Amino acid sequence: MDKLLIYNIKTLYSNNHIPPVKGKLMQDISIIDDAFIYIEDSIIKHIGSGEYKDYINDETKLFDAKYTIAIPGLVDSHTHLVFGGSREHEFSKKIAGVDYLDILKMGGGILSTVKQTKEASFDELYNQALKSLDIMLSFGVTTLEAKSGYGLDLETELKSLRVLKKLHEDHPIDIHITYLGAHALPTEYKSRRAEFIEIILNDLEVIKNENLAEYADVFCETGVFTAKETEKILKKAKDLGFKLRVHTDEIDSIGGTEVALNLEAKTVDHLMAITDEDIAIIAKTNTIANLLPSTSFFLNKEFAPARKLIDANAAVSVSSDYNPGSTPSENFQLTMQISGNKLRMLPQEVLTAATINPAYSLDVENLVGSLQVGKKADILFLECKNLDYFIYHYGINHTKYVFKNGKLVFQKQELR
Ligand code: NIG
Ligand code: FE
Repeated sequence: MDKLLIYNIKTLYSNNHIPPVKGKLMQDISIIDDAFIYIEDSIIKHIGSGEYKDYINDETKLFDAKYTIAIPGLVDSHTHLVFGGSREHEFSKKIAGVDYLDILKMGGGILSTVKQTKEASFDELYNQALKSLDIMLSFGVTTLEAKSGYGLDLETELKSLRVLKKLHEDHPIDIHITYLGAHALPTEYKSRRAEFIEIILNDLEVIKNENLAEYADVFCETGVFTAKETEKILKKAKDLGFKLRVHTDEIDSIGGTEVALNLEAKTVDHLMAITDEDIAIIAKTNTIANLLPSTSFFLNKEFAPARKLIDANAAVSVSSDYNPGSTPSENFQLTMQISGNKLRMLPQEVLTAATINPAYSLDVENLVGSLQVGKKADILFLECKNLDYFIYHYGINHTKYVFKNGKLVFQKQELR
């Protein structure tokens, strides 16, 4: 058995409430100064403060945390990790003011990435995503959700899902996989929408049979998929045993949130355009409002009403939405900092939204998402004076050490 004692932790922060952590409880964080963590194999066995001698013997390895602060390994619960190429060729258009959905209408946007993803080999997709995963790990992400969705045909979707499966096996980050077959309508189906929906319904069965995804997702938006189409796909997915996550209310509110809540989706994602009525409804459910503020930042759009959601007693999480179009950045710490500054969430609320609530949405709240006895030792050590400093000093990587399953998997390269 591996025994490990991590000491010299300046302060340890964790939200230890039972998730989904809603409303006011999101800011109720447990804080331990001068902390230590005792780990056996991959599991936290004790967390204490001050004297730790009782927890060491000849076999115990010691690790000096060098007065960093400790928070749970981050859980990024909405990413589009696997795709071919990039979209910098659309950047000048975007900053000149051409709208995101108009670029898509012209055959660019998601459809441009679909073309590049179809053309990419398994290895090319794998290697590109692997680089992104390494960057995510350096920012302290230890659990991740990742979607397919740049295939729009079965062959490319299967290729993407298999890439994700292999990455989950090979990389320290745990990856939870989502099938997003209905991410955009292929141009050739413009006048045959119903036919494309039928294909997705069929592909859901294939993907279930091959056990390639745990979740299903749909992009419900003006010019993409309607609430009715979304409902049809999600109902079938649920019948097949998929759990649900839904892109909705990103630009317009067209009924996707209601559909998702009626089907008990684990998350509704984006929500920049969510209505006050839907805020009141979501607060009464266990569905997590998954906000993606890095996307608002990059698309120059409204920010989601995080304060209204939290004040209405909803459970909120935040995610990077890493993808080549609306959020080309793996920096989840930046997402957390934008959540503070632009969503007006308190640092404690941001921590909850990046750890225990997304862990709940991925059904791993008993394993990760907080630093508590019995949980996996997924721990992020930050070179920060305190939690407020982490959210305030924005845009840089504060990581000193990342532990996954009780093992050191990343450490900052010191120049001197
Ligand atoms: O969550 N909104 C839909 N999907 C992604 C963007 C995909 C893309 O532009 O490539 C999102 O923002
Ligand atoms: Fe997304």
